[in-house]
Amino acid sequence: MKPYKKTAYINTIGCQMNVYDSEKLAGILAAYGYEISHEMDSADIVVCNTCSIRHKAEEKAFSFLGKFAREKKKRPHLILVMAGCVAQQEGEKAFVRVPHLDIVLGTQAFARFGQHLDAVKSGKQKIVDIEKSDCIFEALPDEAVMDGSRISKFITIMQGCDNYCTYCVVPYVRGRERSRSHNAIVDEIKILANSGIREITLLGQNVNSYGVKEEGISFPQLLEKVSQIEGIARIRFATSHPKDLSMELIHAIRDIDKVCNHLHLPVQSGSNAILRRMNRGYTRETYISRIVDLKKACPGIALSSDIIVGFPGETPEDFNDTMELLKTIEFDSIFAFAYSDRSSAPAAKFSDQVDEQEKMSRLNRLLDFQDLLAEKKNKALIGKVLEVLVEGESQKLHDGFIKTSDQMRQMTGRSASNKVVHFPSESCATGDLVKVRIENAYPHSLWGLTLGAENQ
Ligand code: 5AD
Ligand code: SF4
Repeated sequence: MKPYKKTAYINTIGCQMNVYDSEKLAGILAAYGYEISHEMDSADIVVCNTCSIRHKAEEKAFSFLGKFAREKKKRPHLILVMAGCVAQQEGEKAFVRVPHLDIVLGTQAFARFGQHLDAVKSGKQKIVDIEKSDCIFEALPDEAVMDGSRISKFITIMQGCDNYCTYCVVPYVRGRERSRSHNAIVDEIKILANSGIREITLLGQNVNSYGVKEEGISFPQLLEKVSQIEGIARIRFATSHPKDLSMELIHAIRDIDKVCNHLHLPVQSGSNAILRRMNRGYTRETYISRIVDLKKACPGIALSSDIIVGFPGETPEDFNDTMELLKTIEFDSIFAFAYSDRSSAPAAKFSDQVDEQEKMSRLNRLLDFQDLLAEKKNKALIGKVLEVLVEGESQKLHDGFIKTSDQMRQMTGRSASNKVVHFPSESCATGDLVKVRIENAYPHSLWGLTLGAENQ
């Protein structure tokens, strides 16, 4: 009989950084003898790695953990953990809504997770750790054990944020900005490259200020170092803050082959009045001039952005400025959000809040408009050949896709410009780089045919 192995289930809510953090939690759990499982009903430990950026994400965490009340009565040995941003924000208060929690593990407490697990096992109840820590990175295991993508991984290179945008909880839940040592980053990526990872995305709230406080190497110098790692074919990064986007970084995107020709540069609003109230540190005009520099240095660069609609005091004219900016810049894609009040962020105290219904109406108008712009931009790619890193088989056949007569396997991947590309192929495998001629285009994806092997 197979020996019984204890299992752990991790639910990750939120951003790419949380995906990375969950892999670290998985690494700790593996070191404690737990197998990571997809079955939450039979798991011995359930961890919810939470996000507090918007009200909805926070509610999702409480509702997920709340559902374990009955299970915990049935199986008192089940260990229930709230980790990450909501844990940091709520601390003790988390027990009011989820009394059956065992551990509340803040954003800087991950390295102490193991010792808290031991304490729970020896009978300690309701552990809260929201202490600050200087050493969040190096004390965590390097090897990711969650079975996510086999070709692409996120790597956190810095934590926290010093920008204090007035809507944002990040500086309060993730703390002040600090960068990880470049040697540790390079070592971790080498391990990933040896395990077959071909694409990495370097993560930080503002990668442009990587290493500044520590007086270490700059972000463009880090890109150069990472590009020398054998086996890594593509390097992406997020997020850049428009106020700190340097010519040195623009040149790194232009000159380092492995760095993808794509930049995620959140603008948040197209109105100067709103940008000022958001404390963003740039104007609509300076944002546009950075984009002009970028497009000049890196022709064809793909651009994506984050937008918030319905920020307190946003008038119909301010909103119109944002719509106009979308037209001026022609982003390839955007993430757009209705402003969500966060009690620890200063904007919660701004008096002129926008009505919820009006926020949703603006959000829908913005997304519809962006779909039209993106479709037009994608259609201009028809007939062009893009290099696609294959991510695997398409999960579904999308509307409008040309089905091949022999119903070949549909594969999916991304171009360097971060476009999702679907194509039929029997021969290619996950991790391959293939050339695909674009035949059809939609707002959020492209469809094409692979070139013959002789043209690859
Ligand atoms: N409400 C809505 N969106 C927000 N974001 C950050 N804080 C809020 C908030 N309070 C968005 C910003 C940011 C992205 C990660 O989330 O657009 O760039
Ligand atoms: Fe939040 Fe602004 Fe920092 Fe981004 S730059 S994490 S939006 S405070």
